[in-house]
Amino acid sequence: MAAKDSRQITPQHVAIIMDGNGRWATGRGLPRLKGHQAGAKRVREIVRACPDLGVRYLTLFAFSTENWRRSSAEVSGLMALFRRYLMSEAKELKESGVCVRFIGNRAALNPKLVQLMTRLEADTVDNTRLNLTIALNYGARDEIAMAAASLAQAIARGDIDGSAVTPADVAAHLYTSDLPDPDLVIRTSGETRISNFLLWQSAYAEYEFTPILWPDFTAGHFADILLSFGGRERRFGAVLT
Ligand code: IPE
Ligand code: IPE
Ligand code: MG
Repeated sequence: MAAKDSRQITPQHVAIIMDGNGRWATGRGLPRLKGHQAGAKRVREIVRACPDLGVRYLTLFAFSTENWRRSSAEVSGLMALFRRYLMSEAKELKESGVCVRFIGNRAALNPKLVQLMTRLEADTVDNTRLNLTIALNYGARDEIAMAAASLAQAIARGDIDGSAVTPADVAAHLYTSDLPDPDLVIRTSGETRISNFLLWQSAYAEYEFTPILWPDFTAGHFADILLSFGGRERRFGAVLT
């Protein structure tokens, strides 16, 4: 972090809270699941756009630990959509050099979905063109609690000195231990909240809130936001001379 220019032209790591699928659908008199389907098409478009735009890491919030509170029809429709998406996209992701990984708690997910996730991770592990992280059943508080539990175990084993736990120790126990922190977090749909997404990792991220609903969010909108990021001065707490 310290070595970064204060004016970074392209964010290395962009994280997106893909919100507004439900409103997009209801606004058209359609069931909410149609909005999720339309949103999945945008995922494809944004993933394809990243390498040419200079983005090396893309993290997408697909399903939160709180999204189980929705109707069982919506939850099962979303889970079925994730499975269909992974099956239909696996070949293109593999061949286009995308390294895919998932963050979140897999224990509560359908084993068939988990199998697709682990297979895609294994099949794309050597890819380097784009690092795509999909947050599925992800919640930042869960993640930090899990990291605390695993740190406690490391301390009990004597691997870490419990009286001198550092931020680097905490970061090393998060799902994102091998990812850089996001430089830019985008949320679509006009909501200006974080909804339990990457709380630790986004401590110094820039934020962009756009009113555009996710199914309407194009690669062009994405490119415009990246361009405006280049004009921001990132200080990381310092006074720049
Ligand atoms: C985001 O769209 C997708 C998920 C949370 C899975 P929403 O479904 O939250 O859409 P709105 O916010 O109801 O419009
Ligand atoms: C955040 O959106 C989660 C995802 C985009 C997957 P929500 O729509 O679930 O967030 P809230 O409920 O408006 O805070
Ligand atoms: Mg929403």
